Amino acid sequence: MDKYGKVVDFVHLLIKSSYEKTNSVNFVDATCGNGFDTLFLCKVAGSSGHVMAFDIQEQAIERTKTLLETNLSYKNYEIIKDSHELIDIYLKEKIDAALFNLGYLPYSDKKVTTKPETTVNAINKLLPFLKPNGRIFITSYISHDTGQEIKEINEFLKKLNKSDYNVVHMKIINKDNYPPELFIIENN
Ligand SMILES: C[S@@+](CC[C@H](N)C(=O)[O-])C[C@H]1O[C@@H](n2cnc3c(N)ncnc32)[C@H](O)[C@@H]1O
Repeated sequence: MDKYGKVVDFVHLLIKSSYEKTNSVNFVDATCGNGFDTLFLCKVAGSSGHVMAFDIQEQAIERTKTLLETNLSYKNYEIIKDSHELIDIYLKEKIDAALFNLGYLPYSDKKVTTKPETTVNAINKLLPFLKPNGRIFITSYISHDTGQEIKEINEFLKKLNKSDYNVVHMKIINKDNYPPELFIIENN
């Protein structure tokens, strides 16, 4: 069973319960990495929906493509090797939800990580693309940069206009080793 205490599972539960029965959903995976989140989004979107996934590393793009090709019987995705900071150039339609899973690519070079300024710019560029009720889910880690990215995301999000957006910040408070924190931005 998916656990609320595992942030990635928790995000999947939320997305599944909100969008599983919706036709023609439009999702973004801003950091496709090994492709697990992209595959999940493609399954929730189904053949009527669409997923656009980004990563800057060739290795991530290849791993994601292989995972999707071997696990899906339809093609409802586009995989883009570019920074999510340029997301506005690629998006043609409004989106239901975007997902960021920050930090470094597991089983790879840990020196290539998401960066606070780039992440905040990407979030900022995504906001006008949210449909009414659209959401951005951001799973953020402390260990890759001692919490700098979380701090800067938090600073940016708490200034978002309160009548335009609801912003949620969730963290697990009884675990060691810096569990990830979750931010959710919801269009009002
Ligand atoms: C924690 S991993 C993502 C895990 C992935 N969602 C999965 O299910 O396997 C973070 C990814 O962000 C990517 N990344 C770093 N900076 C980026 C940027 N500016 N634009 C897009 N992806 C970026 C890294 O290359 C890495 O693959």
